Amino acid sequence: MTLVLAGCSGAQSTFDTAGVEAESVLSLFWVMLAGSTAIWLFVVGLSIYATKANPEAHSEKAGVRLIIWGGCVFPVVTLSALLVFGLGMMPEFRRAADGPTIAVSGERFWWRIHYEVEGEPGVVRSLPRNGVESANELVLPVGRRTELLLGSPDVIHSFWVPSIAGKTDAIPGRVNRLVLEPTREGVYNGVCAEFCGEAHAQMGLRVIVLSETDYAVRVAAEAAPAALLDHPGRALFSANGCNACHTVRGTGDDGHKVGPDLTHLAARRTLAAGVLPMTPENIGRFIASTDHVKPGVEMPVFDTLSEDDVASIADWLGRLK
Ligand code: CUA
Repeated sequence: MTLVLAGCSGAQSTFDTAGVEAESVLSLFWVMLAGSTAIWLFVVGLSIYATKANPEAHSEKAGVRLIIWGGCVFPVVTLSALLVFGLGMMPEFRRAADGPTIAVSGERFWWRIHYEVEGEPGVVRSLPRNGVESANELVLPVGRRTELLLGSPDVIHSFWVPSIAGKTDAIPGRVNRLVLEPTREGVYNGVCAEFCGEAHAQMGLRVIVLSETDYAVRVAAEAAPAALLDHPGRALFSANGCNACHTVRGTGDDGHKVGPDLTHLAARRTLAAGVLPMTPENIGRFIASTDHVKPGVEMPVFDTLSEDDVASIADWLGRLK
């Protein structure tokens, strides 16, 4: 029992809640569990009684009455009550956001994040991309209702941070809205909950809930250009075409916003959407063998680079806090 319950806590558990919506979902779960357990015990008890009881002891009329009350009236009343209870939670989820708006795009196989986006998604229903870009790590202010605009440029993904809220799909061609209201500071894990291709299971997300002040500091840091531009790795990064996909703001390399923005890569906790801890060694390992580290990843293997060049690029990227 202890072992089983130990699985119910942690950074990625619907039982270890840290958000208003997740708390409602959990209370709904407990009500349904308690109700279904009581009904199950009653029905099993009744079945055991039926096998022991003498059929002559009850009239046919009593049997018909049991079917009408137990088989029709009881389920209608119970399920209606459950429906009312469930619907009663909805207005809470629908309350307007009073915090920032953040655009989150599910990509194969990582999460693109834009803070401080301005304006509504247009008629073309594409996500605004005008804010401060980051990837795979979402920072939220505690106690505020943050609105996420969810979309995707390729296939359907599903955004799910079990400790904070229920899942919402990120669908190409439209924008779904999800309001997150974290109640506790901390680091939580999120996943992609819709099969989207080979590396679907390696499409992790870290959600970091900070105080409002720390949130503002963190977003301002994210908005700043990269430091340390006179490192030899920076020249190798451009010379070897890394900048064709990746942007490092401040270097003049736009990167066409194909892959994750690397401006503050080293400030993130993990590499390749939750696959590896963020260290220069792991960055090098990933560049030289993307297909081994994360099978199905869109980034090609750069095994033509010398070990020294990879180490130098990794060293530079590993310093971009
Ligand atoms: Cu993205 Cu599964």
